[in-house]
Amino acid sequence: MKTTATVAALTGLLSSASAQYFGLTSARSASPIHYQSVSASGQSLWLGKPTASYCPENVKDIDGCPAGNTTTFAGGEGSLSMGVVVPGGQQVYVEPDTGAVKYTIAHSAAMPEGAIVTGWSTNPGNGFGILSNENGGLLACPCESDEGSWKVFVQLEGVSFDDGCLGFDALTSNSTQAGAWQYS
Ligand SMILES: *[C@@H]1O[C@H](CO)[C@@H](O)[C@H](O)[C@H]1NC(C)=O
Ligand SMILES: *[C@@H]1O[C@H](CO)[C@@H](O)[C@H](O)[C@H]1NC(C)=O
Repeated sequence: MKTTATVAALTGLLSSASAQYFGLTSARSASPIHYQSVSASGQSLWLGKPTASYCPENVKDIDGCPAGNTTTFAGGEGSLSMGVVVPGGQQVYVEPDTGAVKYTIAHSAAMPEGAIVTGWSTNPGNGFGILSNENGGLLACPCESDEGSWKVFVQLEGVSFDDGCLGFDALTSNSTQAGAWQYS
């Protein structure tokens, strides 16, 4: 009995220590969004925008935080989360009226009514995987106020998107670490 419990506890420890994080890269050949990192900033996901993250002073002083300049994700089977250290994590959701892919702020589970949190899956490819969403393809739309930045959406049925938006594949690349303490 005791051995079983110990093994179970150890297995739990090991599996949490080896939690799988991954980064995402866009693929849309012969387009401005071919091979761009998917980044987190202002609770939205982007292509062509630097990652925005935060490390609290008290953590900085003790253990330090991940570098915070890359964006990682966790999960991707059903639900999807940001690859962060902050207790409680940060959940990815799709805004029901716009299709925008967003994430919750740290220490809060607040989401708009009707937010879509499921439908994600990762299919292993040849040396990489592809993240997709059963509610619609991934779409990047040029951001008028910030040239060169593209905002990430899921092409939800019933939502209309600008002609300038481009569909893309999201390639996963494994990472052993969370990319940030929290994304801001
Ligand atoms: C992130 O920051 C680390 C440490 O400053 C640096 O070594 C690394 O090259 C940076 N990575 C990117 C993608 O900017
Ligand atoms: C990435 O991680 C997943 C889950 O652990 C694994 O199945 C897959 O083989 C890994 N891919 C690569 C290229 O290492």
